[in-house]
Amino acid sequence: MWKGLINKYKNYLSVKKDTNIVTLNEGNTPLIKADWLNKEYGFELYLKFEGANPSGSFKDRGMTLAVTKALEENSKAIICASTGNTSASAAAYGARSGLKTLVVVPKAKIAKGKLSQALIYGAQIIPIKGNFDKALEIVRKLTDKYALTLVNSLNPFRIEGQKTAAFEVADQLENKELDILALPVGNAGNITAYWRGFKEYYNKNITNYLPKMFGFQAARSAAMVKGRTIEDPETIATAIRIGNPVNRDKAQKAMEESNGLFDSVTDKEIKEAHQILASKEGVFIEPASAAPVAGLIKLCKENKYSLTNKKIVAVLTGNGLKDQEFVLDNYSIPNSLEGKFKSVEEYINI
Ligand code: F0G
Repeated sequence: MWKGLINKYKNYLSVKKDTNIVTLNEGNTPLIKADWLNKEYGFELYLKFEGANPSGSFKDRGMTLAVTKALEENSKAIICASTGNTSASAAAYGARSGLKTLVVVPKAKIAKGKLSQALIYGAQIIPIKGNFDKALEIVRKLTDKYALTLVNSLNPFRIEGQKTAAFEVADQLENKELDILALPVGNAGNITAYWRGFKEYYNKNITNYLPKMFGFQAARSAAMVKGRTIEDPETIATAIRIGNPVNRDKAQKAMEESNGLFDSVTDKEIKEAHQILASKEGVFIEPASAAPVAGLIKLCKENKYSLTNKKIVAVLTGNGLKDQEFVLDNYSIPNSLEGKFKSVEEYINI
């Protein structure tokens, strides 16, 4: 039986034998071959569907370890700033552990699904007028002053837990050598975590390759691409609407060491990839998670980087059900018919 990622990868994580593990059996998410995209673009792409985690995003990987450690250290409360997913995950693991959970979120720019999760899991929600960067600044000051455990990716256990995603990808690919790992970049924790995981497997001779790390950002929130802080980040992909990534140095190193790249994609490109993934591959993700696929399509179209026959994994970080308003605002549901056989028969016009 799958008992969560700490149990599976405990030899790679610093957890004591008698530690009480806070888990929702996260991890073990599907790796799905992207048949339609592969035919269309000539690469060999697999989709790591992190939306299948218990709270619907990759954040659960870091949260199981961060909350386990918080409990071990006798913390009484956890706190985070969030564009939505971290708050949902913190609230879930907070509920399970019995720790009080506080989440500071940008009021106007958080998907309702994520807010509903934090609400029902019972977190104290603190909405602010301002963006994620501002929220994180406030939370960092609070954790300096009060005995609260920060569970943003500045907490080292978050990155440690998230590195298990790289182990899983390598395990799922069995002996196939991965060329490229593509993922969306916001606060830049996940790219840092994947690189660490791939390097650990390589150094322990479990794999004999190191993939290039390709990080994709939304065009108007592309701090890593531009190499500077963005004062007023914008994008429809609210999860990565971040202008001042706290893990920027580590992420830069991951990109350089792996010989990878950072690139940006427009909201239009994100929207197109989002639709392709749902309507051609059957994989429903939130907009931010479409960024890496939008980026790969862009590289193919621009013909600047050959991806032909390359083995690629794109990390689809969050579930589409979290951001239903994005779909409902952009696509229309047909008007209702009379609830009669004849009306429906005429309408479908077989
Ligand atoms: N994709 C999704 C769905 C996210 O929620 C995030 C970050 C990212 C990608 C970017 O990952 O920050 O490690 O580079 N969400 C954070 C949050 C900021 O508060 O939920 P990153």
